Amino acid sequence: MRMTKKLFIKTYGCQMNVYDSGRMADVLAPLGYGPSEDPRDADMVILNTCHIREKAAEKVFSELGRLKPLKDAARRRGRRMILAVAGCVAQAEGEEILRRAPHVDIVLGPQTYHRLPELVATATRRSGGALDTDFPVESKFDHLPGASAPHGVSSFLTIQEGCDKFCTFCVVPYTRGAEFSRPAAEVLDEARRQIAAGAREITLLGQNVNAYHGTAPDGGEWGLGRLIRALAQLPGIARIRYTTSHPRDVDDELVDAHRDIAALMPLLHLPVQSGSDRILAAMNRRHTAQDYLRTLERLRRALPEIAFSSDFIVGYPGESERDFEATLALVREVGYAQSFSFKYSPRPGTPAASEPEQVPDDVKSERLARLQELLEAQQRAFNECQVGRTLEVLLERPGRHPGQLVGRSPYLQPVHLRAPAHLAGRVVPVRIVGAEPNSLAGEGLETEERIPA
Ligand code: SAH
Ligand code: SF4
Ligand code: F3S
Repeated sequence: MRMTKKLFIKTYGCQMNVYDSGRMADVLAPLGYGPSEDPRDADMVILNTCHIREKAAEKVFSELGRLKPLKDAARRRGRRMILAVAGCVAQAEGEEILRRAPHVDIVLGPQTYHRLPELVATATRRSGGALDTDFPVESKFDHLPGASAPHGVSSFLTIQEGCDKFCTFCVVPYTRGAEFSRPAAEVLDEARRQIAAGAREITLLGQNVNAYHGTAPDGGEWGLGRLIRALAQLPGIARIRYTTSHPRDVDDELVDAHRDIAALMPLLHLPVQSGSDRILAAMNRRHTAQDYLRTLERLRRALPEIAFSSDFIVGYPGESERDFEATLALVREVGYAQSFSFKYSPRPGTPAASEPEQVPDDVKSERLARLQELLEAQQRAFNECQVGRTLEVLLERPGRHPGQLVGRSPYLQPVHLRAPAHLAGRVVPVRIVGAEPNSLAGEGLETEERIPA
């Protein structure tokens, strides 16, 4: 394929957007678009956007502002730069984007990426923005080309999209639409292709990935646990992960998969958001703090070395100091390996945004600081307790220093060690000799000669 045009994609938000950006590059490749690292000489720029918090969404408009002079400069040199906005801001604020940034040529929502070539053709023929934020009846997955080579040994594979949970703070059900699971055979095919292209680790993605209920190869239905069992059988796969899960959808089959399948990594991201039952109910999470702790207990019984990570929101409307302390208490009880925490950000159109009892920003900031102090201490303690242990590390890429490789532990910690570059892609035992807040230092246990080819 001759790549005569340059495509620059900037990706914001979650891993599903990273996956989608790859698919958009695939669908544009037959039109002659090859990847470029620099927007200045690009024939097409795509911003793949995120709407989850206000700051994330605002970034798009400032980036569009920065791109305008680049687009004008291209035109002065007789070149046309096509500017497209994709992703969740496009879905939520399509009209607004075309109004505020008339230099945008294409606005397309996450479910219409297979229509990109058509939209590019239209944009090339005429001026003025084209908008496609449908939720089409046909699935984008049926119309996108098979995934091309992953960039590294670790790849993402979207198996489920959308969400029917409607947590009161969240835009995802509106931007990604109703929940949809891809058929298992299609997932297995894509996994085979990714492995053939060098992937050793596959992370299964979905906004609500453990709600997966895809058509089975025999016409029945598979849940996530069953799908993971089938994936683990594929020759060449070393590691399986999945994200993001909802605490309500952890069924016995999934717990058993953690017990039985060595390739399924022992770190589970299971967002709880809050430790207060009052706030959990207001958020429409449909579980209590106790339900959540019981779920973790089931998983720990199945796999004692399992570790957990979570997302937290502080300052949800009506959150009192007592509610917040319940969150701190839950965190102390669980002991997280790593976590993400955010100040509540009102999102237009979601029920929580119109709650009267909004928490003042200074209170949110103060609570966030206290929560993060605790979570960081837990993460440091978790990293430090790996020192002296031997962990299996998937070597991924060269490190910052010559002769160094960086890999990932089973718990997703980056591990730096001295190892020859050609070992990238291998899982090797590594003795952990040091811990930093966000990474580990290791020593390879085997010399190059002793690691079998
Ligand atoms: N599907 C996942 C989360 C998707 S969004 C789940 O159910 O947990 C990722 C994280 O962003 C959420 O877990 C939540 O902690 C955070 N988030 C979502 N909406 C938010 C909002 N309005 N304000 C602040 N944080 C938010
Ligand atoms: Fe958003 Fe996750 Fe709740 Fe769905 S389950 S509404 S994606 S937070
Ligand atoms: Fe953001 Fe959309 Fe993902 S809002 S987190 S890019 S699903």
